Amino acid sequence: MDPTHLSPHWLRDNCPCTGCRDPRSGQKLFQIHELPDDLAITARSGPADAPEIRWSDGHLSRYPAGFLDAPAETDGRGEDAKRLWQAADFARGIPEAAWAAHRDDPDERAAVLTAVLRSGFALLRGVPAEEGQVLAVARSFGFVRETNYGELFDVRVEPDPNNLAFTTTAVAPHTDNPYRDPVPTLQLLHCLHDAATGGDSGLVDGFAAAAALRAEAPDDFAVLTRTPVPFVFRDRRTELRAERPLIETDGSGRIRGVRFNNRSTGTLRLPAAEADAFYAAYRRFARVILRPELRLGLRLTAGDCLIFDNTRVLHARTAFAQDGRRHLQGCYADLDSLVSALAVLRRRAAALDELEEAFEGEGAAEYLGEDVTLAQHMRQAGALAEAAGAPDHLVAAALLHDLGHFGGSGQELMEGRDNRHGSAGADRLARWFGPDVTGPVRLHVAAKRYLCAVEPEYAAGLSPASVYTLGVQGGPMDAVEAEAFAALPGAADAVAVRRWDDGAKDAATEAPPFAHFRPLLARLMAHAPA
Ligand code: OGA
Ligand code: ZN
Ligand code: ZN
Repeated sequence: MDPTHLSPHWLRDNCPCTGCRDPRSGQKLFQIHELPDDLAITARSGPADAPEIRWSDGHLSRYPAGFLDAPAETDGRGEDAKRLWQAADFARGIPEAAWAAHRDDPDERAAVLTAVLRSGFALLRGVPAEEGQVLAVARSFGFVRETNYGELFDVRVEPDPNNLAFTTTAVAPHTDNPYRDPVPTLQLLHCLHDAATGGDSGLVDGFAAAAALRAEAPDDFAVLTRTPVPFVFRDRRTELRAERPLIETDGSGRIRGVRFNNRSTGTLRLPAAEADAFYAAYRRFARVILRPELRLGLRLTAGDCLIFDNTRVLHARTAFAQDGRRHLQGCYADLDSLVSALAVLRRRAAALDELEEAFEGEGAAEYLGEDVTLAQHMRQAGALAEAAGAPDHLVAAALLHDLGHFGGSGQELMEGRDNRHGSAGADRLARWFGPDVTGPVRLHVAAKRYLCAVEPEYAAGLSPASVYTLGVQGGPMDAVEAEAFAALPGAADAVAVRRWDDGAKDAATEAPPFAHFRPLLARLMAHAPA
């Protein structure tokens, strides 16, 4: 086929226009079957990777820059997205972080979540060794998955155990809850007491084990990908079963999941020859999993919380003597939410980078005939808000209020054309911040017109440049406008930002760099409405 061929239905399905997609949510507004069967491209123009397409039904599609060359987006769950490992790969340490850093620092949290995705696990240290803390860890990146064991479960010796994990026995490498479909895709284990002799933990990369099996015995690998295995769990209140293969692959044969649990494997009903083949493969895989070089040994001590991918990493423990107290608490959560949390953290970091670059680049432009640059002016406004003890959202609004002047549009204002920079800045910021930040940005010009109407001293104190732009922006409000402005819910915030704005034109003051404000901006992004 012609390599430049574009599938018309594919291309049209991805039309970004506001008739095809809701501008707020980006969701599609048409039904796929509604496209004409004989849909064809009648004209193509524009850049090679961002074409403009005229369609046989008259529709026009304009694709964004890079659209045709963009790589496929994946969910990160397949083996291609992973770093497969053996124990020796962690000779210089395992992925770990302090709980407080993970909780408070978005970059640290992103690193932990990346490790869970790439390596299949991460260890948090210093999680208070108190009941229920494991739930706080799960909630730091997702949602707790409640099961028949409850919201969380205790791993300690029980008098009447419904699971061998609740005895002192060794537990061989396994994934949890294979008898559930969908299986919980993330598991957390938090150590509260580690006083027993023995009871050391072990982790095995199930993808690495499956990949080794595929390399050494491809037929066995194939058997395990296509044989559904029944898993069962039963106690007085529960009877769960799921039938899934031990190794799950995608349409192209890549490993996507491993389920392995000797304790809860049920009875397969297969013709004898197939049972022979299955058991040969199953036993071979079990021996691969037990290879010492695959098993990463570690000892959880009080305050440690292990987070791992339950579709990939098998966990184990050695037997222990009931000579002290061993107590873990665990819970389940899901990888899709973790992937989402990570993507959002990355998006926010990219947004902060974009803003920081704007301050350092376009922000170096002179600020409307004053003695400070645009960036100095904005950083000074942010610093004044901070010094006044303003809440985070007003510090951010003060810092970012003139973003709408960036890209040379401030020049336009000085040439006598209103660049409507309040709305322009607010619109740009609305991708990341809520109305508590964008509102005062949007209204900070109106606030000047308002203050000039109601406070003669204010008007008298404006700088000459500000007096000039006031004229371009419509002059002081009349009484009716001023009354309407004062009644707006965001009026007081906008006026506060405006006063910091007016005070931020001092060439002799050195305000903190943009980086100083990043943690505050990250917090606000995290709390912005969906
Ligand atoms: C479990 C389990 C491991 C441990 O409860 O599923 O595997 O270290 N526990 O006790
Ligand atoms: Zn387990
Ligand atoms: Zn300003």
